[in-house]
Amino acid sequence: MKRIRLNSGGIEVSRMAYGTWRMLSTKPSAQEINRRLHLCLELGITTIDTAEIYGLYEVEKALGAALALSPGLRDRLEIVTKAGIYVPCAHHPERRTAHYNATGDRLVKSLEKSLRWLGTDRIDLFLVHRPDWLTRADDTADGLNRLLAAGKIRTAGVSNYSAAQFETLNACMRQPLATNQVEFHLLRMDPITDGTFAQCERLGIPPMAWSPLAGGRLFDPANPAAQRLAAAAESMAARTGGATLEQLAYAWILAHPSRPVAVIGTNRGERIRSAVAAEAVALEREDWYALWEAAQGRKIP
Ligand SMILES: NC(=O)c1ccc[n+]([C@@H]2O[C@H](COP(=O)([O-])OP(=O)(O)OC[C@H]3O[C@@H](n4cnc5c(N)ncnc54)[C@H](OP(=O)(O)O)[C@@H]3O)[C@@H](O)[C@H]2O)c1
Repeated sequence: MKRIRLNSGGIEVSRMAYGTWRMLSTKPSAQEINRRLHLCLELGITTIDTAEIYGLYEVEKALGAALALSPGLRDRLEIVTKAGIYVPCAHHPERRTAHYNATGDRLVKSLEKSLRWLGTDRIDLFLVHRPDWLTRADDTADGLNRLLAAGKIRTAGVSNYSAAQFETLNACMRQPLATNQVEFHLLRMDPITDGTFAQCERLGIPPMAWSPLAGGRLFDPANPAAQRLAAAAESMAARTGGATLEQLAYAWILAHPSRPVAVIGTNRGERIRSAVAAEAVALEREDWYALWEAAQGRKIP
């Protein structure tokens, strides 16, 4: 698995990260999660993506329990976590409405909680999960700058920010933002045309692509785009070494010149292996565009 530096002097991550959003859907034990982390490491995936809100605030705790089973395991990983989304739930009956809060003080409080749940003294990459429309960028930056100065986070970034929101926050940072984690896959291509990836390229920071398989919708037989993509994958099998649609979907993301990190989300070991094998799939230019056409159901303009 290739590795990539997020920004000059910043941390290095694996080209694929393992995402934990759906991790508790199969109700795994701490031992099972621990084994999955070891499998990722064995395959070269050292970057683990999580968030305070995942599993309605339960995933970080479960990850912390799994990490605690193997002393030293945490130090072999880069942990990415996010904060800024607050929803009513059993832990927080006092909340009336789901909301974003990216004020500096709130981010610091959430990060401190993430450190406790994960059982670690630092986060490698801390992301503001969503832009908060009610907070000024200098307030958000103040929290991130304080966490960087205290060594509680090694780098800071954002998720789901527009290029303009990124630029505004970045201008207030003492250490430049390291990434923008956005939804990007064959069924959602906006970042390649809305300026998000162009900005990353200009700043020399790789974006992170979440839901690389469109959350599984790429395989929905009732979805016409998925049907066209399955046919396209079959038609290029001889040139791609028999790569599956799943592998082509990852290769399509990795081929973008902004060098996205694909944040994979499967709960199955064999699918993690298959994802990692996709790194070796070399998509020819015309096949990349053929997948674009199949996904869009039209010729390029
Ligand atoms: N920053 C953000 O706002 C944000 C938002 C969403 C997600 N994320 C991150 O991105 C990560 C990945 O997102 P994701 O889970 O949506 O990724 P994904 O890879 O697009 O989707 C994973 C889902 O697709 C299913 N799947 C995989 N291969 C399949 C196949 N061949 N046929 C049918 N279904 C298949 C998986 O089921 P199995 O488990 O059974 O394989 C799983 O339910 C998350 O864990 C999280 O870390 C970030």
